[in-house]
Amino acid sequence: MKMIKNMVMLAALAMVAPLAAEETAADSSAAAPASAQEIASGVCAGCHNPDGNSVIPMNPILAGQQAEYITKQLMDFKATETEPAKRNSPVMSSMVAALSQEDMKKLGEYYAQQKTIPSQVAADEKLLETGKILYHGGNIENGIPACASCHGPTGSGIVPRYPGVAGQHAEYTLTQLNQFNTGDRANDNKVMQKVVHRMSANEKRAVSAYISTMR
Ligand code: HEC
Ligand code: HEC
Repeated sequence: MKMIKNMVMLAALAMVAPLAAEETAADSSAAAPASAQEIASGVCAGCHNPDGNSVIPMNPILAGQQAEYITKQLMDFKATETEPAKRNSPVMSSMVAALSQEDMKKLGEYYAQQKTIPSQVAADEKLLETGKILYHGGNIENGIPACASCHGPTGSGIVPRYPGVAGQHAEYTLTQLNQFNTGDRANDNKVMQKVVHRMSANEKRAVSAYISTMR
């Protein structure tokens, strides 16, 4: 398993190697590269806060998220010379344009080490109850699987493939569910796209609200 992972990493590195080499050559006279903390408290902080605990509901909380998942998303936001970005985001695509593969890896590790300050927005009790049932048990009638089976019973996710969702802003989560549904977000190997396929608008709202209260 480790070996396969390493090979995938190597293949990914090989693809960006020419780019990285160019960067190193161009930067050789410049100062030492910025640390993840410097990048995070610089350009990223305006939207995600320096420690990744975004307080703006549209911007995801990154603190405590799995390192591998964050690195994957950053890579997916980045278009290469030959391929468009795998995850479409006008905001984030410009943010990652200047990041190297190494920066993305270090940023993943940095945010993973920060303590999560979960979303504090209150939601309707009835909505939360509907969301709770769906999260833990799915909806057999509509063929919606339990979110817990991949994102874990506490919403902490399962390393390295299934991201943590607990405490995330409901507004961000709902936007992602809608984007998986329309195909605007399609960097999930169709896993999430299949999950949301049969969810009603109310179910999406309910599960997003419930997730924001998970600790
Ligand atoms: C202008 C605001 C803004 C800035 C600055 C910004 N982001 Fe984002 N970020 C967003 C938004 C909004 C999203 C959600 C994706 C979307 O809807 O386009 C996002 C999504 C992400 C995600 C995906 C999280 C997930 O759970 O899937 C990561 C990782 C991320 N940003 C990291 C960064 C890093 C690292 C920087 C600095 C280099 C940065 N962001 C700068 C607004 C911003
Ligand atoms: C079969 C496994 C599986 C199930 C079941 C599942 N998910 Fe996911 N989910 C994933 C994977 C894999 C990703 C990461 C996709 C990627 O790499 O970008 C993901 C990503 C997400 C994201 C995006 C997180 C972020 O930070 O942007 C949200 C939100 C989400 N899932 C919510 C749910 C909800 C709600 C349910 C239940 C209705 C659910 N998932 C059920 C596998 C699953």
